[in-house]
Amino acid sequence: MILTVTLNTSIDKAYTVEGFEAGRVHRVKGVSATAGGKGINVAMVVAALGEEVAATGFVGGYSGEFIKRGLDQTGIKNEFVDTQGETRTCINIIDETTGLQTELLEPGPFLNKSCEDRFNEKYESLLGISDVIVISGSMPGGIRPDFYARLVSRAKQKGIEVILDTSGRYLKEGMAARPTVIMPNKSEAEGISGREINEEKDILEIIETFMESGIEMPFITLGEEGGYASINGDIYRYVPPKIKTANAVGCGDAMAAGLAVAVCRGYTGERALRLAAATSSANAMTKITGCVQKKDVERLFDKVDIKKLS
Ligand SMILES: Nc1ncnc2c1ncn2[C@@H]1O[C@H](COP(=O)(O)OP(=O)(O)OP(=O)(O)O)[C@@H](O)[C@H]1O
Ligand SMILES: [Mg+2]
Repeated sequence: MILTVTLNTSIDKAYTVEGFEAGRVHRVKGVSATAGGKGINVAMVVAALGEEVAATGFVGGYSGEFIKRGLDQTGIKNEFVDTQGETRTCINIIDETTGLQTELLEPGPFLNKSCEDRFNEKYESLLGISDVIVISGSMPGGIRPDFYARLVSRAKQKGIEVILDTSGRYLKEGMAARPTVIMPNKSEAEGISGREINEEKDILEIIETFMESGIEMPFITLGEEGGYASINGDIYRYVPPKIKTANAVGCGDAMAAGLAVAVCRGYTGERALRLAAATSSANAMTKITGCVQKKDVERLFDKVDIKKLS
């Protein structure tokens, strides 16, 4: 089973408008609200690919109930810990005229030590039934900075592979525990490495430093240009096929899902990368964040261009 961890869950609202401009009133043409937070997106995609998946983290209040109901409808096992604070709402404004997206992300509630303790208890019980764990996104206020490092360590002690998909200080702290996979995008990789990425050489050097610090499979993703990945000691450049992009938010989450499924199924090397990349691009083809059609993934699978660099 694949377990996803989302400490900072949200209700993700997408508004479709024409000609979005700050300071103006807009009539919304279309609206959707889904259970969100990066790990929940991962869980949705894993479920769409047909693997067993459970989702844990924190939820609270009416929004928390909405999220749990959403999970029940998709066959994702709900293993969330309830908090008193209300789960946040995140808004994505999709401008049909320009194709631009504007995101408004609430910070989420402030949590206390008792929430942490209850989560740890739940997490320990889930370790016994998890093959791969995906830890995604930011942490709510009040959670100790080394929390991700502890989650990674506990999983690794049990021989469970961990994908840590986060950024900034969360990534820096979490990397100390050597997750199996990290997958920063370009700006996140620049942030964590403290250097600018201008050419391929920069990316390869950063991947090298990630590997030296004990990360077995570091990725650096470049949006529609694909990215770079080190898998089983080989470094690959991958480029997805040209597709019609409906909403690219959550492509990184879909990538994490595809990779988790690949690891769970025992895929290695190029085959694992192919599934991860095809799944990530399939996400861009649907309007809803964290949503893929299995048939899109299957169609894209052979079309991802993959070159082994070393
Ligand atoms: N427009 C696109 N068309 C096809 N594939 C895409 C597109 N955008 C992203 N992808 C695929 O998704 C992967 C991850 O995308 P990206 O680098 O945008 O991740 P991200 O910034 O972490 O995304 P998010 O945080 O929104 O989930 C890319 O390596 C690529 O394979
Ligand atoms: Mg990402």
